Amino acid sequence: MDYFELLRYRKSTRKFRQDQIAQDNLTAVLAAANSAPVGSNLYKDIHLTVVQCRDALDKLSAAAVKRWEDKAKMKKIIGNTPDIELRQRVFDPFYGAPTVIFVSHRKQDLQPGIEFANVTCIAYSMHLAATCLGLGSVFIWGSLEAMREIPELDNTAVLNLPDDFEPLLGIAIGHPEQELKARDLKTDKLAINYL
Ligand SMILES: Cc1cc2nc3c(=O)[nH]c(=O)nc-3n(C[C@H](O)[C@H](O)[C@H](O)COP(=O)(O)O)c2cc1C
Repeated sequence: MDYFELLRYRKSTRKFRQDQIAQDNLTAVLAAANSAPVGSNLYKDIHLTVVQCRDALDKLSAAAVKRWEDKAKMKKIIGNTPDIELRQRVFDPFYGAPTVIFVSHRKQDLQPGIEFANVTCIAYSMHLAATCLGLGSVFIWGSLEAMREIPELDNTAVLNLPDDFEPLLGIAIGHPEQELKARDLKTDKLAINYL
């Protein structure tokens, strides 16, 4: 698949089959993560955690599930997306995906914000790799944000991270319930100005 064809298939998947992804697919996705650019070449500041244990995922969902009780707030966060009703019913921030990979970063204040740029490059590289393999995937920010908002349900300790690292982004990956379909590429979603 050439790059622009790949972009046509890329989308956020929010309905997954329960069966686990193949080990060679996971290896390929992790290779994609390792091929992403990282600011100042500081790969040692990034840590990946592959979570395939339902119990751990349930613990990591608890804050997000609680947060969905505030429907007005959730509407503000995610807008009136067509599947908002479904997402309220599902109450699973990982949408049943059998694999979730968290991207954590060493805490730092030397270059404020670069940690978010780094983890996004890595997550996007995995998102495209998953798409290329015919797997569904979706970025996971909400469950991490909910854990920061509700400290009593902050179960990030289950990730068993090295000292001074915090999870900043995740990606849920699995077989999509409905096969990925190509969409037209758009050029008018982002405002652009030219100088
Ligand atoms: C930084 C970032 C965080 C995101 N976090 C979530 C999330 O927590 N849950 C979710 O369902 N989608 C999440 N998304 C997916 C966006 O909602 C999605 O990319 C956007 O609605 C466009 O839809 P598309 O990816 O299908 O084109 C996130 C995307 C980005 C870039």
